Amino acid sequence: MRVERICDALGAEVTGIDLSRPPDDAAIEAIRQALREHLVLVFRGQKLSAPEQIAFSRRFGDLVRRIRDDFLHPDYPDVLVLSNRKEKGEYVGATPAYAGFTWHADLTYAERPSMGSMLHALEAPAKGGDTAFANMYTAYETLPGETRRKLAGLKAIHVRDRRKNPRAQLTADFDRDADEYYGVPVPDSLHPMVRTHPESGRKALFVSPRFAVAIEGLDDEEAQPLLDELFAHQRRPEFIYRHQWRLGDLVFWDNRCTIHKALGGIEPPGIRHLHRTSIAGDAPF
Ligand code: SIN
Repeated sequence: MRVERICDALGAEVTGIDLSRPPDDAAIEAIRQALREHLVLVFRGQKLSAPEQIAFSRRFGDLVRRIRDDFLHPDYPDVLVLSNRKEKGEYVGATPAYAGFTWHADLTYAERPSMGSMLHALEAPAKGGDTAFANMYTAYETLPGETRRKLAGLKAIHVRDRRKNPRAQLTADFDRDADEYYGVPVPDSLHPMVRTHPESGRKALFVSPRFAVAIEGLDDEEAQPLLDELFAHQRRPEFIYRHQWRLGDLVFWDNRCTIHKALGGIEPPGIRHLHRTSIAGDAPF
């Protein structure tokens, strides 16, 4: 197995491994270490069935599912299907209207957000549909000292319901009943705005415009400009790796120190059909 950096900001390509053959413990440890170092790992040319992707993902922890079952794989609900393919007039998977078009780390509305996720491309468009990933260690380390001091000890409130978040409103292609979709009771979560990665010990900025809507103990007059400053800072181009999907890619990223975003713009008749698995994490500290 070889691991080669693909971008100054973050990300490495891993070659010399066929993930459909269950990797041994040494290979899993090497992947863990590569993830710790590079935050996003790209395995090209893979061909994993849903159960094979589940089995590989489980080597890193229990799997977590989204709160609603829309877009889950009908036979393997640990797999979320992301797709712009339509059958009988309906999308067969979540489009960016339901997943991914606002910068975020996965499932931070939960008390224990996901530690990492994997996306595997079963079909990839010739043009468009890229995913951008940003490095939240660097984002934190490059904040002005005064902002870093201000953030120490502060917690942000993360909510799932887009209707409660002016920065992540529903788009015109959200074609379900929003009251029903967001009616599932999900308690908001409070997370430190700067978290310490439990494996590397490094500090990472831990907010995103998709989920963080307010700051505990601060009124909006103070909190919203601070959030705006952080959201503008965390997506600076020098923190970003932009992944162009190819058939067979499997991308594994660490949700504890990165954020990501679906960039859209798939050129018709391109089809982007991806399987996502998410691995359980622990409570941020
Ligand atoms: C996601 O947010 O997990 C999906 C990103 C994408 O569709 O590019």
